[in-house]
Parts: sequence; C-alpha cells; structure tokens
Amino acid sequence: MNKVNVVVLASGNGSNFQALVDACKKPKYPAKIQALITNVSGCYASTRALDANISSICIPSKFWIDRVAWEQAIVNTLLQYNPDIVCLAGFMKILSPEFFRQWTKPVLNIHPSLLPEFKGLDAQNQALESGVNQSGCTVHYVDKTLDGGTIIGQSKVRIAKRDTLESLTTKILKQEHKLYPIVLKKISREILRIK
Ligand code: GRF
Repeated sequence: MNKVNVVVLASGNGSNFQALVDACKKPKYPAKIQALITNVSGCYASTRALDANISSICIPSKFWIDRVAWEQAIVNTLLQYNPDIVCLAGFMKILSPEFFRQWTKPVLNIHPSLLPEFKGLDAQNQALESGVNQSGCTVHYVDKTLDGGTIIGQSKVRIAKRDTLESLTTKILKQEHKLYPIVLKKISREILRIK
C-alpha cells in the first residue's frame, strides 16, 4: 500500500508520538513514520522510538549556542528523510520564519486547547483560570505565527467544577491521542490522492 512518509518532532513524554506510532502499525493506515527528531537528550519519546524500532535523532537545543545553526540542523535532517508531512508532538521549540522558508511541506501540530482560545504555554491552566466550561485540543497546520495556522480538527472536553490541572490535562490528552491519528489519516489521504 502506498503510504505518506512522516517525521515526528517531540521534546518530552511522547504520548502523542506513541498514538501516531500505534496508528501507523495498522496495515491500512495511510502513513508511516520514518524517524523521530528530539531536541532533549534522553526524553521518553526517544525511548518509545527505540521500542518501536524507529530511528531517533537528537539535536539538542540546550547545548547549541547558535539557534540558527540548531534550526538548520533540524532542516538538514528533514531534508535527508524528505517526509511528506512533519508532525510536531509536544515539540517545545518555536520554529522560526526562516525554517518555513526552507521547509515548505506540511507541518502539523497538536495543541491542548480549542484554538484560537488559549495559545502558547500552559493552555490547560489558561482554560481553568478563565472559568470556561469546555476546552479540548486542536490539530492545525503550523506556520510562522504562534499556534495560529489553519485548524484541521478539534475535539472538545467538558470542564467540571472539580477539575484540577492534572485531571483536565489527562482528559485532554485522551482526546489528543484519538484526534491526532484521525487528522493525520485525513491529511495523508489527501496527499496520496494528488501524488
Ligand atoms: C500535549 O498536551 C500536546 O498538546 C502539547 O504538548 C503535550 C505533549 O504531550 N503540544 P506528549 O509529549 O505527547 O505526551
């Protein structure tokens, strides 16, 4: 079966990466993961890649003095794999406009709020503090704006009075793990149709 190639970028636990890995294991799923790129040495996402037999490349942002050179190393690695889609999954670095000048193929991201509400860091806390009674997650195209690219899919969760940061984060993550594979499937099929 013809499949689109995906490279995932992650910085931490990698539960969304895992959800994509699990989805890609299904024979009829239209995408396959070529590699994981991380910017944090030893993050759990890289252990998950090892367990799944997926190449994992660490380009540590912490020790890279020159941000431009660090980002260039990411671009160079992507150029080597040349994936059809890049999926950000808890990648805690902002990619600069220069990145998007060099890398013009689709980049997707998952964000733990119903964008355009609660952009940036601590989206779950922002939702709790604002007193809204629902939040959720969004998969969107990434462009040079912060969490501002075109929205592709969203999933809602209700916020109960007793919800804490932990319980809301868990509720949203559960939805993220369903939403991201669904959206990647949709975009992969669109790409395969025009390939
Ligand atoms: C998720 O909440 C995702 O929406 C956000 O970062 C978190 C990553 O979690 N961008 P994980 O590393 O996938 O478990």
